[in-house]
Formats: sequence, structure tokens, C-alpha cells
Amino acid sequence: MSARPRVFATRNIPSPGMDLLKSECDVTIWPHGRIISHEELTENVAGVDGILCHYINTIDEQVLDAAGPNLKVVATFAVGYDLIDVEACHKRNVQVGHTPNVLSDSVAELAVALLLASSRRLKEGMADITNGQADGKWESGLYLSGPETKGSTVGIIGLGRIGLAVAKRLKGFDVARFLYYDIAEVPLAVEVSAEFASFERLLSESDFVLACCSSNSDNYGLFDKEAFKKMKNSAVFVNVTRGILVNQDDLYEALTTGQIFAAGLDATTPEPISKNHPLVKLDNCIILPHIGSSTTTTRNNMSILTAKNILAGLKGEALIQCVKKKA
Ligand code: DGY
Repeated sequence: MSARPRVFATRNIPSPGMDLLKSECDVTIWPHGRIISHEELTENVAGVDGILCHYINTIDEQVLDAAGPNLKVVATFAVGYDLIDVEACHKRNVQVGHTPNVLSDSVAELAVALLLASSRRLKEGMADITNGQADGKWESGLYLSGPETKGSTVGIIGLGRIGLAVAKRLKGFDVARFLYYDIAEVPLAVEVSAEFASFERLLSESDFVLACCSSNSDNYGLFDKEAFKKMKNSAVFVNVTRGILVNQDDLYEALTTGQIFAAGLDATTPEPISKNHPLVKLDNCIILPHIGSSTTTTRNNMSILTAKNILAGLKGEALIQCVKKKA
């Protein structure tokens, strides 16, 4: 019988991390090319020493019970750990690892890409070319025009690592001012001259509103009818965190009644969103399949960090990046 620790992975990760993990562990990777269900997850973790999960996997008491007393570490291939019951893990002395820092730049890049793509109406422009319908449309002089970043007010919800990285990039676009809303004032805001504002003020004064915060039960549905009503009719909304922050029916209404100008979403509920979802059909809504951290460099770095977290946890050492125990 093998003395090597056993790890169950809910999906594969890039080879730099997976090879490292396999050099010291027996790794079973969910083989079915689709998201593992919660039931299937509980069936597959019995007796494992470590679980490598992704941001879409719920790790709760049921999964921890199914894994049993050998389990030492749960490491997610993501920065967000909103679906992991961290307290339940800590009660069982199971360490929880995640991948902050290494992905902030790539997620920020995608936030800027979504901001530009939705404000400059790339979806419509590409469709006009693909469908051969661009001819003649120039005549109005305002063909596919939209709001400009230069001189604008950008509102960032959550000025953490990703929010700051977004602001640093947008500074280069000559944005006039940054507002941010967070649970408390952020000292690093001085780096981008961002001004702390209430949620309501940020919504009503911003030309671009970017959700960059982590999600928790306090901010589920934060962007609802009331929030969209407070935004400018010319506002562009971008979400690169979690779909659960947004009431999608209310967003649909805001986008179809001219309440806001456009939206760019890298996060939806569910993921991936169905091609038949009403939001997908809108010209002024660009939706991506949660690819914020998907640059080759970042994904490789995330894989190495995830593997190192697991290997440390299996040895009973402190993780490289652990979710801290509540004081
Ligand atoms: C994260 O890392 O939490 C991202 O949202 C998933 O790519």
C-alpha cells in the first residue's frame, strides 16, 4: 500500500503545479470534464489527506465528514473562498489555502478590458462586421458611440489587491477621479488618490462602477434594482468577482430600460451562464466565462502556489497563503 498522501482534485490545474503535487502525492483528478456535483464530491473524498478544489466547489461539513480524519488541507485554485466553510475546516484542524496576489494583475487587466469593451460597444461592432451590417451605419456620425474614460469618475467597490490594480491601470487613461467603497477606509488608496465614498454616493457620481470586492453573505444581491436606479443612465457596470453580488433580473431591467448604459460581466449566476439567458442576448451586455485570472503566467503561478499550499498542509506546516483563523 502506498504511504504517499492522497489528494483529490475537483479539476486539473496547469502542469507546473500538478507535476509538483504528483511528485509527492497520489492525486486523483475528477475525470469527467464537467463540474463535479456536491454529491459526487462527497463520494470521492473518502479518506483523502488533501482536497484541491476550485471556486465553484462547495466545501461544507458534509464534504469534510465524508473526507474523514485524514484530511489536513483544503486548497482552492482561486483567491475567493466564499464556498468553503472555513470555520468548519479550522474546527477540524484542516488548513485552508488560496491564491491571492498572483492573480491581481490579470484580473485587473480583464476588468479594464471589460470596461473598454462594454463602453466602446465592441460586441455590437464585431456583430456588425460578422453579419455584414456595418455598411451605411457611419452616416449618423455617432455610430457605436459610448462613454469615454478620459475625464470620467470611476467607482470601485472593494479597494483590495484587485481594485487597486484596476485603479493603477486606469490612471493611464486620464480618469479624473476615483471613488471607492469598502468596509473601512483603505490606507493604500493614497497610491491612486482614491476617495472613500458611501455606496450611494459612489453609484450616483460614477461613470464606471466596478465590482472588485470579495463576496460574503452581507453583500449578496448588493447590485439590485435600488442600486441600479442610483446609477447614471450613462453608467457602465463591470463585475469581475462573483455573480451572487448581482440581482440579474434587476440588471436585465436596468440594461433594457436605459437605466444604465452597459455592463461587462466576468462573473454570473450560474457559471457558465446559459446561452439562452436573457442577459446573453443583450447588445449592451458582454459576458465572459469567468476568465479573469486566465493568463498563462498567472494560471501557472496559481497552480504552483496551490500545490505548495497542499504540500505544506500535508506536512503540518504553515501554508504559503492560508485563510487565517478567526481571532
Ligand atoms: C478567484 O480566484 O476567486 C477568481 O474569481 C476565480 O478565477
